[in-house]
Amino acid sequence: MPQTQSAPGALDRYAHWLRGRPAPTPSWSPSSDLGADFISFTGGQPATELFPLEPLKAAFGRALVEDGAAVLPYSENIGLDALRQLICRRVARRGIHVGPDQVIVTSGSLQGLHLLGRVYLDPGDTILTEAPTFLGALPCWEKEEPRYLTVPVGADGLDLDRFEATVRAAPVPPKFVYLLPTFQNPSGVSLVAARRRRLLRLAQEHDLLLVEDDPYGELWFDDEAARLPPLRSLDGAAEHVLYLGSFSKILAPGLRLGYTIAPPGLIARLVAAKEGVDFHTDGVVQQAVVRLCDGSVDFDLEAHIAAARRVYKQRRDALLGALEQAFGPRARWTRPGGGFFLWLDLPAGARAAAVVVAARKEGAGVLPGTAFFPDGGGEHALRLSYANTPPERVAEGVRRLARAVSAAAE
Ligand SMILES: Cc1ncc(COP(=O)(O)O)c(C=O)c1O
Repeated sequence: MPQTQSAPGALDRYAHWLRGRPAPTPSWSPSSDLGADFISFTGGQPATELFPLEPLKAAFGRALVEDGAAVLPYSENIGLDALRQLICRRVARRGIHVGPDQVIVTSGSLQGLHLLGRVYLDPGDTILTEAPTFLGALPCWEKEEPRYLTVPVGADGLDLDRFEATVRAAPVPPKFVYLLPTFQNPSGVSLVAARRRRLLRLAQEHDLLLVEDDPYGELWFDDEAARLPPLRSLDGAAEHVLYLGSFSKILAPGLRLGYTIAPPGLIARLVAAKEGVDFHTDGVVQQAVVRLCDGSVDFDLEAHIAAARRVYKQRRDALLGALEQAFGPRARWTRPGGGFFLWLDLPAGARAAAVVVAARKEGAGVLPGTAFFPDGGGEHALRLSYANTPPERVAEGVRRLARAVSAAAE
């Protein structure tokens, strides 16, 4: 008899096998069923108009037709040499000087976080994060059921006095410190340069591994923000900083192309772990990005990123202006120097959960601050993304949000 349906009881049996495993965390994947009039400030999606479609088409064509014999078979787990060389040249522009043996290409930078968990975490370990932090990272480590210690982020980034006190008071040292020092997701704030040096000194003093997640670092809006040095670029950082980069925000997230920079010994462990996950990142995608950047097609990645900076700055300014008009002194928000997000502290009395529901009814999407704290917080705040909202829609979106705030307060 053809098996078109699950046998009765099969689902119960799965439930039995899954008993005792942590429940899945809610998905943060973008939803697409909201209608054309809906104005979303929710996702980490880049501006879709910026995707370089024609150059990508040409680069994929060349990668397949001219290089297919080399990149269609299985290839090295660590990633294509030409792409790792390209990554080394690009990160050198920001002061990170490494060779290709210190780079592993990953399927999105998120996979680097996952591989790190596999090679590095033991069940019940402690991870220290910023509060708020990028909660999308946490499912990477859920198998090991870590404990989280958190340290608040203020206008100048991580509070280092609290950080030091937390590290000193921890009964066991955190296995690593997960950080987004530049244009943080979700708050948009950055760790000021002087604090970066102190943070590295503290890491050296307490023998800590800092995991620097930096997908937005190249998307700055002014000279001061452009000069923020990645932690990994500081003197003495090689031993204490593992750096994650991505092509998602500067090219397109659907490529699923990221990289991790670490000392060669740790890279070897990450490579071994990757073999058990997906063997290697899609060879055609890797080669297409090489072709995109090596002069084979009509495209200049640096000019593309410079244009993206202008687009995102314009969108940030539109959102800042609309918030000022709609809320004035009743609310407070951050003023990001780059990246995709800002953080809105709601007017007194407004609760994020109620505002999110009311905003959806009004036709605007926002995320509650609570979605960004591993151990509670953010009840009166929202994360707003300006990256994929055309500026002419921003003012209307914020008016809807302001109506939602009033409705939620009633
Ligand atoms: C801070 C941060 N890290 C990692 C990622 C995931 O990036 P990728 O697409 O390279 O996996 C995101 C995506 O939104 C992010 O905001």
